[in-house]
Amino acid sequence: MIKIGLVTVSDRASQGVYEDKGGPAMLAELQRIIATPFEAVKRVIADEQPLIQMTLSDLCDKEKCCLVLTTGGTGPARRDVTPEATAAVCERILDGFGEQMRAVSLKIVPTAILSRQIAGTRGNTLIINLPGNPPAIKDCLEAVMPAVPYCIDLMEGPWLDFKDDCGLKAFRPKHAKKPG
Ligand code: MTE
Repeated sequence: MIKIGLVTVSDRASQGVYEDKGGPAMLAELQRIIATPFEAVKRVIADEQPLIQMTLSDLCDKEKCCLVLTTGGTGPARRDVTPEATAAVCERILDGFGEQMRAVSLKIVPTAILSRQIAGTRGNTLIINLPGNPPAIKDCLEAVMPAVPYCIDLMEGPWLDFKDDCGLKAFRPKHAKKPG
């Protein structure tokens, strides 16, 4: 079964001060877009860099998720360390993801400039940071999801198809062939 990691990074959600809205928003958006069956591996953790790094490494190395999404902790506040933790566990950074998410988000809110979100690869896993605000999750995912299946193909991960009615297309070059 294909696994996708969903990590909510929030001091308050992890302490139960408020309900985690980011995790369910990421899952709802993926379920709306992805046709291929997948299992969501969910985590809700505090804004602590070592804990974020441990969680991301575990989802990549042990759970073998092909994709890990994070929400929260990308801004300029003192406790926001998700991009630092992501960079620390990734072997390579894919700058285009952060650039595209900010470019699209800046057309919606001027404060999108405050998000330091990045994406990168660890082994066969693609990790993408999303901002904490639930509407931002949808804006940012829609901005980058068309490139995600082919990225996962190139990383020798599973073949992902999109739902016909989701409004997005999984973009693959013409020569890309579904294995098997
Ligand atoms: N991007 C989109 N699309 N929509 C938003 O509402 N909020 C911004 C930004 N990016 C936002 C957005 C704000 S106000 C902040 S502070 C940063 O994301 C970082 O949010 P985070 O620290 O919760 O990750």
